Amino acid sequence: MEQLRSQTPAIPVNEEAFEFEETARRIIQWIAAYWTTPSKYPVFPQCQPGDIKKKLPTLPPQEGEPYECILNDFESIILPGITHWNHPGFMAYFGTTGSLPGVLGETLAAALNVNGMLWRTSPAATELEEVVLEWIRALLQLPKEFRGVLTDTASVSTLVALTAARESLGLHIREKGMAGRDNLGALRLYCSDQAHSSVEKAAIVLGIGQENVCKIPTDDEYRMVISALEQAVHNDRQRGYLPFAVVATAGTTATTSVDPLAAIAAICAREKLWLHVDAAYGGAAALLPEKRSLFQGLENADSVVFNPHKWMFTQSDCSTLFVRQPRILKQAFSLIPEYLKTDDGDVTNFMDWGIQLGRRFRALKLWFILRRYGVEGIRGMIREHCRIAQLLATWIDNTDDFERVAPTPFSVVCFRYHPVHVDDEQRLKQLNENLMQKLNESGDFFISSTILRGKYTLRAAVGNARTTEETVRNFWERTQEIARIHLR
Ligand SMILES: Cc1ncc(COP(=O)(O)O)c(C=O)c1O
Repeated sequence: MEQLRSQTPAIPVNEEAFEFEETARRIIQWIAAYWTTPSKYPVFPQCQPGDIKKKLPTLPPQEGEPYECILNDFESIILPGITHWNHPGFMAYFGTTGSLPGVLGETLAAALNVNGMLWRTSPAATELEEVVLEWIRALLQLPKEFRGVLTDTASVSTLVALTAARESLGLHIREKGMAGRDNLGALRLYCSDQAHSSVEKAAIVLGIGQENVCKIPTDDEYRMVISALEQAVHNDRQRGYLPFAVVATAGTTATTSVDPLAAIAAICAREKLWLHVDAAYGGAAALLPEKRSLFQGLENADSVVFNPHKWMFTQSDCSTLFVRQPRILKQAFSLIPEYLKTDDGDVTNFMDWGIQLGRRFRALKLWFILRRYGVEGIRGMIREHCRIAQLLATWIDNTDDFERVAPTPFSVVCFRYHPVHVDDEQRLKQLNENLMQKLNESGDFFISSTILRGKYTLRAAVGNARTTEETVRNFWERTQEIARIHLR
């Protein structure tokens, strides 16, 4: 009986709306102040593992708490444990930032809280996604037959694309699976030894197996060697394997190298292999006419992933996947239970385009960003990042005790401290680890590392909206100072 009695809401609706307005105003003021000076916080938090958890209760409160308490705890417990991706000195991994138009788009999407699984579950969410993706398709100069879909991450976009690639074989793997089918040779997938781990993860999920991901060697500039790809496909066919797809990378994770897309596309066309291009990072540079020649051949791909949440000032998460034949993608994924059947005519139901059913209204933030900055505004920021990264590259090239470890096609500089008298790789690794640690401890900069052909390498990734020539100059001065004073 108790359950049948009407329950009052936790907070009366009117009171909640009033309280929301007050608090939202405070939060917006906080965001505006934070946005102009994120550098007042250390970019990398000075905390130890477990520090944050220790300050939080193990169980949720039984009764609601005032926003005042929640905001106080946000400032005193959460903020000290934040790595500030918005900090101009954030140059680790791929330095990325969201943007204020993105904050506003996300806020409205949170308020609307629509689920864009079907056209009818929010026509505007579906149609805006179609329109915004059509804009981005045109910016990437992909042919008109390409259609796009938003996913959360490049990892998922690549998984979805490779599922379509597998479906395109016409082997009914969707229906019958692969186990116990003796006449089915092992499916083989090719990518360079610099490809992102998401390719291998997709192979794990799709039942292709990590051992069937063939890592093709790369040249001096970390680009896939075409003759090695041809040879690998040929050898695999001889062994009775079933080559089915190549993943080329336009902007590799370590060095931002671009595989020779046109040559790879030609091999894929000849060998009837699906070509997926991972332009998760590099796609942003494809917007610049002066970088366009690096992307020649992109138009011949079967699928392309580009992440606005990497270098197009879009709040995470936001990945765009484009496919030349949406029919195949839908064939791979469409599975409509009775309760989701509709008769809305010729509309897009994005639930048919991937793994997930429910989907966020991600297109809204992209629309805000593209409209508020305009294409030229976005190009200007990306171009400036490339310019200041080139400056850093030049300073490194002109300094005896430092060296660049890879070319810098875009805005990531791979370098290391290499004093003239030291040649032992172990010692060099130790010196550079110390250098990175000192830089990261400073609170002003945050960089990351990689290994390139056995060389421990530091990466300074410029991609943050607030990173300027002055930031990069300060970074270089600090780097040299640490080397001079602490690494002798
Ligand atoms: C080239 C490349 N592809 C894919 C990914 C995976 O991105 P996401 O985090 O969106 O899955 C990354 C991440 O850095 C990347 O560098």
